[in-house]
Amino acid sequence: MTVPDPLGPTPIDRPRRLRSSAAMRSLVREHTLRPADLVLPMFVREGAQENTPISSMPGVLQHTMDSLVRAATEATERGVGGVMLFGVPQHKDAVGSGATDPDGILNQALARLRSELGDSTVIMADLCLDEFTDHGHCGVLDADGRVDNDATLVRYREMALAQAEAGAHLLGPSGMMDGQIAAIREALDAAGHLETAIYAYTAKYASAFYGPFREAVDSSLQGDRRTYQQDPANGREALRELELDVAEGADLAMVKPGLPYLDVLREVAAASPVPVGAYQVSGEYAMIEATAANGWTDRDRTVLESLLAFRRAGASTVLTYYASEVAGWYREGL
Ligand code: PBG
Repeated sequence: MTVPDPLGPTPIDRPRRLRSSAAMRSLVREHTLRPADLVLPMFVREGAQENTPISSMPGVLQHTMDSLVRAATEATERGVGGVMLFGVPQHKDAVGSGATDPDGILNQALARLRSELGDSTVIMADLCLDEFTDHGHCGVLDADGRVDNDATLVRYREMALAQAEAGAHLLGPSGMMDGQIAAIREALDAAGHLETAIYAYTAKYASAFYGPFREAVDSSLQGDRRTYQQDPANGREALRELELDVAEGADLAMVKPGLPYLDVLREVAAASPVPVGAYQVSGEYAMIEATAANGWTDRDRTVLESLLAFRRAGASTVLTYYASEVAGWYREGL
């Protein structure tokens, strides 16, 4: 009969050794987050005399042109990888005329930022009609009120040229129209904008997590975008979208939203020949803010953990409303 060891069995493997001190943890850390990995989405409002807070996104603003320049300059000085601009126009119409007007708010803001910042950061433009249409859809409508894919491509081509001419380095088509990357690439090349790159919103889901964004851009949308954005139940489709976008000329690919779609991000990142990014969207930001405001989570740690999760899942870049703030933390020495 064996006598039981009063101390119990001794573990052979002790993974805790590698967690024993901050220095040891740092030594074996697999993934990192740098300011240059982060992209700051920003809103600029036409005709505004002062900033307008967005109540569902505490801390995020609809900027005036001047405050946009100041905030983008600060973000650049902190080393963020880029800024992604969204325009909030004063007037909207059925075809989103403001999107292609060189004097429209988004094109004006791109031109201003490019002249102030030059090539010191990557200036990105949301290429989509929803902020500019009175019906709030990402494309133009046909006689039956449905989003007309191919008529929308004509507008996207015009929008791409306006944004490239304004000085955007990287265009972010977010409308989920079939063939949008090829249409935009062809228009850019034909006009000699060979260096203007495309950050394709590759796997973009019809998500409830965009809720606060509707307030951020004063959206007029009634209904939803389920006939063009992906069904949240589908994973495989993301790989098909990736294949198409890459074949059509995408320079980078994005998965959006972020945290609820980390599985999709991982699969897309594994399959992609181009760099892959993730977008931590407005509803994700709002959730972090709301739980922290209740004292239920430690805000700053939650922010960093959520951003690191994207890197672990395979994202090269992360679009996040926290980009400038977090880059500032690194500057102060995190
Ligand atoms: C469309 C666009 C949307 C977002 C980015 N680009 C809204 C939508 O597709 O309904 C959402 C971003 C966010 O929620 O933070 N122009």
